[in-house]
Amino acid sequence: MSLQKDTLAAWQARYGEATTLPTPGPLITSMLQHRSVRAYDDRPVDEHTLSWAIAAAQSASTSSNLQAWSVIAVRDRERLARLAQLSGNQRHVQQAPVLLVWLVDWSRLRRLGQAIQMPTDGIDYLESYTVGVADAALAAQNAAVALEAQGLGIVYIGGMRNQPQAVAEELGLPSDTFAVFGMCVGYPDPAYPADIKPRLAQSAIFHQERYDASNEAHAVSTYDQLMSSFQHQQQRDERPWSNVAVERVTGPESLSGRHLLRAALNKLGFALR
Ligand SMILES: Cc1cc2nc3c(=O)[nH]c(=O)nc-3n(C[C@H](O)[C@H](O)[C@H](O)COP(=O)(O)O)c2cc1C
Repeated sequence: MSLQKDTLAAWQARYGEATTLPTPGPLITSMLQHRSVRAYDDRPVDEHTLSWAIAAAQSASTSSNLQAWSVIAVRDRERLARLAQLSGNQRHVQQAPVLLVWLVDWSRLRRLGQAIQMPTDGIDYLESYTVGVADAALAAQNAAVALEAQGLGIVYIGGMRNQPQAVAEELGLPSDTFAVFGMCVGYPDPAYPADIKPRLAQSAIFHQERYDASNEAHAVSTYDQLMSSFQHQQQRDERPWSNVAVERVTGPESLSGRHLLRAALNKLGFALR
């Protein structure tokens, strides 16, 4: 298929309808073709492939150039098994050739402050935590795009937050760091191809000048149908996305243990003032 056809097909898969927009360059094609990959073949992930991805991550914007994030590559099979168990027994964590663990990392600036004997009390505020999460996420997503452009597949692992202290211990994290999510990386196993998952229509999430939810009900019911067809095609239970999504936020019990995150963060050195 030509690049133009690939791009238009990815748009169709993403929104369930065609576009007449002029087609952009190859980067956006690769981004629109994103799908989470949870099965990998046995090709190893080379160091140089990872280095390009980390360079892409470090090329992302970062608040005030503070670079308040770090990343750990885990390849050790036993450590992966333990991290898989800590993140809700996710098989793909155990099987991935590499797991990148993305950290909010204020320990570096804390150390720098100590070295030059300057206070670093600003780190203790919720604002700094938020900066760290935003920086880590921007970096990680740049890496994801770079890895996918090189033919690899990824899936984020929010399960890394189920037991933050045990994860911190496993990874030898210093105080003022937090594993915000993991990312399994590997070459997609052609025996288990993943498909492009549809998203809400742009009208539901893309506002002009001021917030406007007036078309939301229509967009959501269209999306529920689109997701039902997707689940049918995947031979999975057909359940309206709106129900499934709301179920994920019904109460603390639906947060996979992460309703205790504030207390865990406090223990990891984040005062969150
Ligand atoms: C921060 C974050 C955490 C996620 N955590 C997990 C996870 O723990 N396990 C998993 O299998 N997928 C996880 N995902 C993948 C999402 O389920 C997936 O991106 C979503 O269903 C959309 O599917 P797609 O990525 O194939 O388009 C996570 C995604 C993000 C962005």
